[in-house]
Amino acid sequence: MKEKLEEILKEGLTEIERANDLKSLDEVRVKFLGKQGALTSILRNMKEVPQEERKEVGSLANGVREKLESALSKKSEKLEEDALNLKMQSEKVDITMPSKGVKRGALHPLTRFNNKFMDICVEMGFSVIQGPEIDTDYYNFEALNVPKNHPARDMQDSLYITDNILLRTQTSNMQVHAMEALKPPFKIVCPGRVYRNDDDSSHSPIFNQFEALVVDENVGLKDLMKMIEVILKKLFGEDVKMRVRPAYFPFTEPSIEIDATCQMCQGKGCSLCKGTGFSEVFGAGVVNPKVLEMSGIDSKKYSGFAFGPGIDRSVMITNKIPNIKYLFRNDMRFLKQMR
Ligand code: PHE
Repeated sequence: MKEKLEEILKEGLTEIERANDLKSLDEVRVKFLGKQGALTSILRNMKEVPQEERKEVGSLANGVREKLESALSKKSEKLEEDALNLKMQSEKVDITMPSKGVKRGALHPLTRFNNKFMDICVEMGFSVIQGPEIDTDYYNFEALNVPKNHPARDMQDSLYITDNILLRTQTSNMQVHAMEALKPPFKIVCPGRVYRNDDDSSHSPIFNQFEALVVDENVGLKDLMKMIEVILKKLFGEDVKMRVRPAYFPFTEPSIEIDATCQMCQGKGCSLCKGTGFSEVFGAGVVNPKVLEMSGIDSKKYSGFAFGPGIDRSVMITNKIPNIKYLFRNDMRFLKQMR
């Protein structure tokens, strides 16, 4: 019996030693210490051992079990450690490898221009408000003194949704919303998208405008022109020249159009400004008293002026962009050049 136990121990230790993964180690454990295992069956047959040897054989068998158990647990620790080391080796990160570089994003040129313009207006005491791009005929036309069948409607190729609802053709709808909601005096500016049925290299069905409106006592054309001059200098630099032309908008009287030094050729004359050295930036004017009255503002006490630049054209000119569509395509190659 003693020899048998020693044999089991020897054999067991050899097989533990030989096991090279956790699965085969477990098989060894079952073979020797499991329910049907070699050592277990010896312990089970203790009653066949003569009485006087039982104690010795018993403690010997327990010793063998302890030795095997401790060898098993040591080996299993080692195998786990080996597996972990192997994993760490294979998943090692080479921190000396040169990085791919972080790509920096940038604001869209329209957003940049928008922000610059907003900052200038806010500095001058304007509040920024926003309003509906889908609006009723009343806000887009009627309340701006453009009744149905008025020829001025032909100036703007409108996109109607129903007879009465359209995609706003101008941010001037915000003049009416503001006059209805605010008590004079106020100064508001509204950036936003506008829509017209127009499509060529310098026109897009979607484009961007601002609407600036000042309503106060005793304000007029002189204040409007001075303010525009200040804004143009902040936008395009101190050397910018400005030119004023008479214009017609039903909601302003008088109406003017403001040109500024062409930013493409800096006033030298180019194909874009048709050799004039100037390009148009603002439609503007003194608010027609009729328009004030329609929105419930006392035109004997208050007057107002408004201006509305289209911003896409300015962005195109300052960035030398030949086609307005580039501003809306989200082509990364174009946007990267605009950073
Ligand atoms: N809304 C006019 C346009 O789209 C521009 C404008 C704004 C004119 C404000 C006068 C005052 O052409």
